[in-house]
Amino acid sequence: MSSSISVSAIRPAAQRAPELTPESIRALITSGAQGRADNKLLIYIHIPFCSSKCHFCDWVVGYSKADLLDTGELRSRYVEALCTQIREYAPTLRAANYRVSNVYWGGGTPTRLTPQQMALIHDTLADCIDLSGVAEYSMECSPETVSAGHLELMVPRGLNRISAGAQSFDPQILRKMGRAHSSDQIERALRTFREGGLTNFNLDLIAGFPGQSAESLFDSIQRTIDAGVPHVSLYMFREFSSDLVVVRQLTSGSVKQVSSDERSALYFAAKAMLEQAGFEEYVVGYFAKGEQFRFNSEDYYFAMRGDYFGFGAGAASTIGRCTFKSGEAFRYGDSNVRTYIDAPAAMGMAPLKFVPDVAYTDGYFKAFATPEGINFSRFREQFGFDFKALRAARPAIREWFAEREKNGAVFIETAEGIALSPETWIPTMIWRR
Ligand SMILES: C[S@@+](CC[C@H](N)C(=O)[O-])C[C@H]1O[C@@H](n2cnc3c(N)ncnc32)[C@H](O)[C@@H]1O
Ligand code: SF4
Repeated sequence: MSSSISVSAIRPAAQRAPELTPESIRALITSGAQGRADNKLLIYIHIPFCSSKCHFCDWVVGYSKADLLDTGELRSRYVEALCTQIREYAPTLRAANYRVSNVYWGGGTPTRLTPQQMALIHDTLADCIDLSGVAEYSMECSPETVSAGHLELMVPRGLNRISAGAQSFDPQILRKMGRAHSSDQIERALRTFREGGLTNFNLDLIAGFPGQSAESLFDSIQRTIDAGVPHVSLYMFREFSSDLVVVRQLTSGSVKQVSSDERSALYFAAKAMLEQAGFEEYVVGYFAKGEQFRFNSEDYYFAMRGDYFGFGAGAASTIGRCTFKSGEAFRYGDSNVRTYIDAPAAMGMAPLKFVPDVAYTDGYFKAFATPEGINFSRFREQFGFDFKALRAARPAIREWFAEREKNGAVFIETAEGIALSPETWIPTMIWRR
């Protein structure tokens, strides 16, 4: 899933979710929907294939590289499995009166599928549930995989936003990152978006990558501005997982990293460049040139705006306060494609006693990137818990806050919720080792 935060490395140890039968999942969808004040739904479609296993990527930790790079039989079988899972549950979502407001294809790299495979998945979904009310239909891609053919088939089907991982325009950094594209291919992808009829598109960039000089970062920001991109996601390089090639290089000392303070300073200088060029940072790291270009699907998750159902290996769902997942319950990055293909309807539910931990990571951790933070009433609506009571009952939550406060985080609590002072997010939150 783009552009958002991989939680695999900060979650509690993997636990196998209790397996549910498709009948019980359907029953939970039906009863869960009845308990919700709002019947809005986001549908997420997960595509766990890429054309490179990038040295920094904490989304595909634990994947078999051969499976990740597959272009043949496994990919076709995955598409079939995805359609089976959609046919299994989407009609129940429709019958439960969910109103689909957002469709979000993430990964991995959705455009690693052929345009025809994407169209087939879309058509299967559209046969099962009404997509006519979708306001934002967004898809991730990488510059070397997206083609005019993808847009020719997907724009008429409703695609109205696309996001590409550029990471950098610097050839040396792209090479160190293990990316499969050049800076020319980023520019070509932007032409493809425009020629394909899209005006709402994003580039992901990374700041604070080991060996990335200030000049290199600023040049990438400037080239992004000059390219007329309406949205930029600027991520600080995260060092969560010891499995990343780059983290291993840092640990062995074969590559060097500047201090955290220097990296924070780089982020704020890059932010100032974007703001001067007319972008507004509406969520930490998310810069839009006008409200119409904000990435609403990400805000949907961050700000706990409603239920969502994820199709695909490892995809998570929150339906009527129940958290479901294909694959292992608490490992986001652990999408075992082959297990999924064998049993695409199999999903587990996060056992109730773990739900506070799910909220702890998925919920408030991300929520603090938004100016509003955790809104207490939406938290209760989404997870069924009173946040303040939960915090009082769970020492781990209090420790989480205390540790960040010790590092300089400033939390602001009101009767409505608790937010993080935005200038303290970058220096204190997720990206430090
Ligand atoms: C699913 S990918 C985006 C689409 C596509 N797969 C690509 O790479 O072009 C998710 C995004 O998360 C960001 N990301 C992944 N690992 C990261 C890390 N360790 N630190 C910072 N950002 C990271 C990258 O900017 C990447 O584009
Ligand atoms: S292409 Fe994207 S999802 Fe795939 S490994 Fe690279 S950054 Fe991660």
